[in-house]
Amino acid sequence: MRVCFVCLGNICRSPAAEAVLRTMAAQQGVAVEVDSAGTADFHVGELPHQHTVAEARRRGYPVAHRGRQFEPGDFAAYDLVVALDTANEADLLGLAPDEDAAQKVVRLGAFVPGEQGPGADVPDPWGLGPEAYQAMFDQVEQACSGLVGHVAAGTVPQVLARRGQSHLSG
Ligand code: 4NP
Repeated sequence: MRVCFVCLGNICRSPAAEAVLRTMAAQQGVAVEVDSAGTADFHVGELPHQHTVAEARRRGYPVAHRGRQFEPGDFAAYDLVVALDTANEADLLGLAPDEDAAQKVVRLGAFVPGEQGPGADVPDPWGLGPEAYQAMFDQVEQACSGLVGHVAAGTVPQVLARRGQSHLSG
């Protein structure tokens, strides 16, 4: 399973999700390739935000990503394109070149254990203090734990099926 996490800047939330999923999957012996990108080009080439790096280090997740912008051609390289919030999801659906690509887009919150709908947003911590990044990592860990479980169980298609008709109409 090839997964790309996408937020706005690709320096706070999506590099965190990338680091968490890669580590959890490796620990559980679940085969995933993980990447991340941003819908915007503000931070291309940059390391993740200092609060993301610090919190990742504190929790034991290696981080070495450099910011990059998600492009329509990227859809072909992934099986799942996981948006951190509703705005990222809408932007990705706008970039999707065809229906196959749009079908790969899902919100990270959809994988939270017990979630029955399209999933809650992971709020943008940009401009906030370290405690916002701790809360972001708590939310990302919970969702990534669910995502690893769904990959291992082969139940990702069931999660995608819960997104609803609004997803397909973009
Ligand atoms: P992210 O956070 O989308 O989680 O990486 C942001 C980082 C930078 C900006 C916005 C959000 N920015 O406007 O530069």
